[in-house]
Amino acid sequence: MTWFAASRARYPPSHIRYATLFRRQFNLNIRSIRGTKDILPVESPLWQAAEEAINQVMVAYNYQEIRTPIFEQTTLFSRSIGEHTDIVSKEMYTFLDRSEESITLRPEGTASVLRAYIQNNLGEQSPLSKLYYAGPMFRQERPQAGRLRQFHQFGAEVLGSSSPRLDVEIMLIPQEVYRRLGVRETELFINSVGCPNCRPPYKEKLVHELQKVYDKLSPESQARLESNPLRVLDSKDERDLKATKDVPLMKDYLCSECATHFAGVQSLLDVVKTPYRINGRLVRGLDYYTKTAFEITSKALGSQDALAGGGRYDLLVEELGGRPTPGVGFAAGMERLLMVMQKIGTAPTKQRGPALFMVGLDDQSRTWAFAKATRLRSLGFPVELDYLQRSLKAQMREANRQEAAHVIVIGDSELRSGQAKIKDMKSGTERLIELDNIEEALRSS
Ligand code: HAM
Repeated sequence: MTWFAASRARYPPSHIRYATLFRRQFNLNIRSIRGTKDILPVESPLWQAAEEAINQVMVAYNYQEIRTPIFEQTTLFSRSIGEHTDIVSKEMYTFLDRSEESITLRPEGTASVLRAYIQNNLGEQSPLSKLYYAGPMFRQERPQAGRLRQFHQFGAEVLGSSSPRLDVEIMLIPQEVYRRLGVRETELFINSVGCPNCRPPYKEKLVHELQKVYDKLSPESQARLESNPLRVLDSKDERDLKATKDVPLMKDYLCSECATHFAGVQSLLDVVKTPYRINGRLVRGLDYYTKTAFEITSKALGSQDALAGGGRYDLLVEELGGRPTPGVGFAAGMERLLMVMQKIGTAPTKQRGPALFMVGLDDQSRTWAFAKATRLRSLGFPVELDYLQRSLKAQMREANRQEAAHVIVIGDSELRSGQAKIKDMKSGTERLIELDNIEEALRSS
């Protein structure tokens, strides 16, 4: 007798037990990859509620959905996000495919949206493109609460206008999503990171000042001083915070165009009565920004407190081979949003039960119920049946467990009379209805 047949003889036929034995016998312990998560059925109502709010808000602001591939040529990301950023230098999932092409799982959505915009000439179809997206992104970061290796973002990009009104619109969209989901305790931080006119002279000044305190900086910031000095400013390391207390900030060295734009953003935020704080140290972890940069945080999150981030990137389309086209956008973490919703208790916990559970008493009635359920489902009623040949009592228990709104019991006598009792599970009341009229009964209750 084989091992499997022997264990089959020894143990009751339970799927779980066989699966466990099978795994043990062959030492198969296949697990999900570190930093990835299954979204289980119990969590789906939460995701669906968030997705519904996102779609509604995007419609309200007149954004159109775009879906781009999950993998792209590696150069797309190294060129746009920047060679010296953490994302490109140490976090990307990059591999050679079978034709030796370097492929990367997208670490963010902006680069792909811009690639698609350029490749499909979207700019020629309309002078302004308002696009939104949602989906998984991949970064090989150290996993912790709110930080995954496969995570999900929703985001939007507007291409074709340099109006500060769009900077503000882009800041308002995620906040409107949060408001609709009952997430109110958020903070908006804004900054300007300048442009190729004002940033290089400022950078020189900053490097000069940082060199003076070089010995007091953390080893990470000492390395960044060479590769990406602006990032030294948003280090959370105590040593860096202390050493860089008095260094000059970009916002005080803006050229007149950037300063006017930044002032415009602030006055528009005042017009729409949206509170914000200026954080001169906000530089973001991606290199493509010009002028506005912003982040939305929540105190309900731990050390990974950024719910969303974004900004303007007026040179990026051109850098990726398109015509000069200004742009601005944001992306927001789904998992972090859901963490906040769960923490503050605005999360829906359950999917609604079926409108009707059809109990069948014998084979013929079960087949009849199956056909009827198919018809009712095609009319849009959520209907469930028993597929496990359970007893009347066990089927009733299951209908209760699933929180079905109504139950109808079908047996030989019901089929012969063409009538059956439908039970309202909430009130416990029963009434006799025609089997041809189940949909009417469901509609009227
Ligand atoms: P980002 O700041 O890198 O920006 O990511 C945006 C948001 O994605 C973060 O605020 C956070 O909520 C979430 N997020 C990032 N990494 C992780 C992770 N490892 N685990 C869980 N959540 C994470 C961007 O991606 C830019 N593309 C935003 C943008 C769009 N700028 C202009 N347009």
